[in-house]
Amino acid sequence: MMPIMVTRTDFNRYMMPTYNPASFIPSKAKGSLVWDKKNKKYIDFASGIAVSSLGHCHPELNKALVDQSKKMWHLSNVLMNEPAIRLAKIFCKHTFAEKVFFANSGAEAVEGAIKTARKFAYENISKKKNGIVSFSDAFHGRTMMAIALNGSERFVKGFGPMPGGIKNHPFNETKNLEKAITKNTAAVIIELVQGEAGIIKAKKDFIQKIKKLCKENKVLIIVDEVQSGAGRTGTLFAYEQFGVKPDIMCCAKGIGGGIPIAAVLTTTKIAKSMEIGSHGTTFGGNPLACAVAEKVMTLLTKKMLLNGVKKKEKIFLRELQSINKDHKCFSAIRSSGLWIGCKLNVTENFNLDTVMRACYENGLMILKANDNTIRIAPSLIIADSLILKGLKILRTVIQEQHP
Ligand SMILES: Cc1ncc(COP(=O)(O)O)c(C=O)c1O
Repeated sequence: MMPIMVTRTDFNRYMMPTYNPASFIPSKAKGSLVWDKKNKKYIDFASGIAVSSLGHCHPELNKALVDQSKKMWHLSNVLMNEPAIRLAKIFCKHTFAEKVFFANSGAEAVEGAIKTARKFAYENISKKKNGIVSFSDAFHGRTMMAIALNGSERFVKGFGPMPGGIKNHPFNETKNLEKAITKNTAAVIIELVQGEAGIIKAKKDFIQKIKKLCKENKVLIIVDEVQSGAGRTGTLFAYEQFGVKPDIMCCAKGIGGGIPIAAVLTTTKIAKSMEIGSHGTTFGGNPLACAVAEKVMTLLTKKMLLNGVKKKEKIFLRELQSINKDHKCFSAIRSSGLWIGCKLNVTENFNLDTVMRACYENGLMILKANDNTIRIAPSLIIADSLILKGLKILRTVIQEQHP
């Protein structure tokens, strides 16, 4: 039976109006290429918002998915689940973690991390120790707790009342940090590289002060690596580059390579507070998702792949700087591995929307970040030749709009 054809009119008719997708309809994808229904080809610098870490339909991931699909799809967490346990073992081998809780999305991992931190403080230190410190411009997802952590009007307006106990402090600001992180704080949650904000790295002195205050006040550090993890920044997880060991870490996006899966990672000591029945999810750790993520993580832990991320970052930077030299179109180019932000020098005819639209028209997929910043987050194994072809398209677009 032929699948039913859909159009933009159907989208408007049947979908909740939370999204405003591009006008073309993608129909297939392979590696770093996507084709639409008219068979037009696009180079993918977006990878589904930093998700398809190994490109689309990677043969080894396809095989892992098909093999598992013939064995067992779903069990629930009332039964032992071999793919989940094997995946947890990989996380524990390659990170600080000793225990893992699987979830389905980044925001759900953030929820699990906050619950874990509060429960640990409640059981072990004080029943009043429940404060959470988050930072300005952070993005932790769209659940109630996740938007409350961000706190800005843009996210919370109309959805109140918000969960309480949260203090939002300016990112990279050491001044008055001691007023935010106190003995009543259970945890600090931080993105070491803020992605949605435009690839902004945490500064050394800021991290040092957070570490010092957390130690003095017995506060846990939750690192949100939902977007920065899974090799995106050139190391398996970004924390390896920032001299900070998380107490709890949130992962999602790239660890599944396109399959919805998330994880909360922590130590045995902290995990102990989360006794049977204290938290759960029906789909978290689903065997299909874990079988794919096991293959993703096995491939991502290879040194050669991670070194490749740094080499490809250099190609991007060289070309982007050359575009900027010729067109003075960016006020900043920031990068952390294959995660690049180019802040636009906006003019009347040149902004994020005009660039994005023209890129689509010319066969290139890019992403937006806040503050008029182009975000680039391709597959970690994108071919060098495709990087150059994609950047040629971007150069053409800029030439037309910002000559
Ligand atoms: C740092 C960070 N945390 C959490 C989330 C939320 O993830 P999800 O959309 O899977 O809920 C995101 C999503 O972009 C993110 O970038």
